[in-house]
Amino acid sequence: MSDVLPFFRAWVAHPLRIASVVPSGRALGRLITSQVNPGFGPVLELGAGTGVFTQALVERGIPDSGLVLIEYTPQFARVLQRRYPGAVVICMDAAGLRHVTWRHDQLAGAVISGLPLLSMPPGKVLAILKGAFSRLRSGGGFYQFTYGPRCPVSDKVLDRLGLVSQSIGWVFSNFPPAQVYRLTRR
Ligand SMILES: C[S@@+](CC[C@H](N)C(=O)[O-])C[C@H]1O[C@@H](n2cnc3c(N)ncnc32)[C@H](O)[C@@H]1O
Repeated sequence: MSDVLPFFRAWVAHPLRIASVVPSGRALGRLITSQVNPGFGPVLELGAGTGVFTQALVERGIPDSGLVLIEYTPQFARVLQRRYPGAVVICMDAAGLRHVTWRHDQLAGAVISGLPLLSMPPGKVLAILKGAFSRLRSGGGFYQFTYGPRCPVSDKVLDRLGLVSQSIGWVFSNFPPAQVYRLTRR
């Protein structure tokens, strides 16, 4: 796949930020987007990388004009904008979400996150979740994958924000195997 080498190079340059040597597989993309429906409204994707989850969203019927893609790595943001010309692509640190506006700035129906939360300090995870939930409609889910056996957001952070987490499944065929959690307001 043509994204493998650029992804690997980005990981060599910034291992903690990229946090995986290869992009996620399509099966993980299908699972993490499986509860998102076109009627929910715009979808906010954090750490979109080269767009594996973005493509799964499009395949679920979300038009690219209904996508807001947040990506820190400039070369990935350029790839995303080229592939999804109707999407809003913002090259920024997702921790600053609360301070940015975009066209059609309406509440999202869901948030899909490929961010490496486990390699971030708790204060940053808190800022990202606060910002994301301030953009998410009531009842909406924040979907996060992890390679670990537990939710990558600590109980302390969940309690502080009034959130609960639930696993929606594993994808053992992914490299590495990955689990998806849904975070919702209590
Ligand atoms: C594990 S990769 C996942 C990429 C893609 N979603 C996938 O699953 O193939 C993590 C992505 O999050 C991006 N990222 C890391 N920290 C970020 C931050 N603070 N704000 C926005 N994007 C970030 C990285 O540049 C990278 O593209």
